[in-house]
Amino acid sequence: MGRAVKRVVYDERKIAEKVRELGAEISAAYPDGELLVLGLLKGSFIFLSDLVRQISRPLQVDFLVAASYGDKTYSSGTVRLLYDPETKLEGKHILLVEDIVDTGRTLGRLMEMLSARHPRSLEICALLHKHLAAELKHPTKFVGFDAPNEFLVGYGLDHAENFRHIPYIASLE
Ligand code: IMP
Ligand code: MG
Repeated sequence: MGRAVKRVVYDERKIAEKVRELGAEISAAYPDGELLVLGLLKGSFIFLSDLVRQISRPLQVDFLVAASYGDKTYSSGTVRLLYDPETKLEGKHILLVEDIVDTGRTLGRLMEMLSARHPRSLEICALLHKHLAAELKHPTKFVGFDAPNEFLVGYGLDHAENFRHIPYIASLE
């Protein structure tokens, strides 16, 4: 039944602790204004649901579904929105929540598209960051873990759509 994970990289306790820290950091970073937390699907679905429960200020939640043309090749660098939030972004603090930043190409295009809608602020929160993001013009303000350059699965992250439900983060290498 497909591949097996090789090594647990972040266990449930470690993830929960980090998500609590991020929640506190985010709560403190937005003393006023409307906050819209935008989860990038599908990878962020578990992280987002845990994260918003650790944020102790009013917020709204919506999602983005983006597809890169050519899927794995990213040759054109074009991002298409399959689902676009109904909510107005203008004048709100927008926090884009991503599972993992690798090259940052997807995020780079999304940030351009979203900033054109005149939010009050626009920042990224990523649970994992591989720091290979040479193309990412906009730095990731909130980072959970500086991830090893290995293929990680679990806690929302997939390999060919498998492993998303695993409660910890593991390496396939
Ligand atoms: P980027 O545009 O190259 O930064 O790619 C980011 C996207 O690639 C993430 O949202 C993930 O969906 C996927 N990705 C990158 N690295 C990994 C990994 O180690 N495991 C699972 N998915 C990954
Ligand atoms: Mg993915």
